[in-house]
Amino acid sequence: MEPALPFAVLISGRGSNMLALAAAAADGRIAGRIVTVISDRPEAAGLAEARRRGLAVQLVEPARDADRAALGAALTAALEGHGAELVVLAGFMRILDAGFVRHWRGRLLNIHPSLLPDYRGLHTHRRVLEAGDPRHGCTVHFVTEELDAGPAVIQGRLSVQPADTEESLSARVQQLEHIIYPRAVGWFATGRLGWKDGRAVLDGRPLESPIIEDAQ
Ligand code: GRF
Repeated sequence: MEPALPFAVLISGRGSNMLALAAAAADGRIAGRIVTVISDRPEAAGLAEARRRGLAVQLVEPARDADRAALGAALTAALEGHGAELVVLAGFMRILDAGFVRHWRGRLLNIHPSLLPDYRGLHTHRRVLEAGDPRHGCTVHFVTEELDAGPAVIQGRLSVQPADTEESLSARVQQLEHIIYPRAVGWFATGRLGWKDGRAVLDGRPLESPIIEDAQ
């Protein structure tokens, strides 16, 4: 059996993806264990949920006048203190500095609520509705220095319905997130997913395009 991959989850809010990852690690879908859940916000609902489940939690708050690099260094110290070998961003609402991203390159994943490269940044559901797009979804990708632009690993895809609102899209996209994020982390934990020469590699082959999971 593979030794369990020690990984960390960074959150700022509700933490539903963190909980989906914790459930997958607990039932063996991920050959890994969460060594710490880190939040930059003391009021993040996900922190209390993580505590309730017996996960180690940590608050890493930026000092009021500190720069991004200082927060990145504090995060790396906390992550290395817990022996994390993979860092999973799950609704972590801060842009990480280049030094942090370089340090964790190939070991840093994010989930974004759009079919990247479409709709980087915020308010993705609203922008999809405004554009009248027939499709929407979410993307797990490796993080690089350019925001929401690193190599994509897997996308969850759904059809936008005429009656959809930002809220309904957000709920359906999140259901897909809870499927594809544990899957990607599971691949990483068994060594199926990795990083080579700036590209995502799955089962020994560079991914030309992400794996697609269509909503049922
Ligand atoms: C998710 O929709 C994710 O795509 C985005 O932030 C949200 C986090 O939700 N990056 P949660 O805190 O995991 O519920």
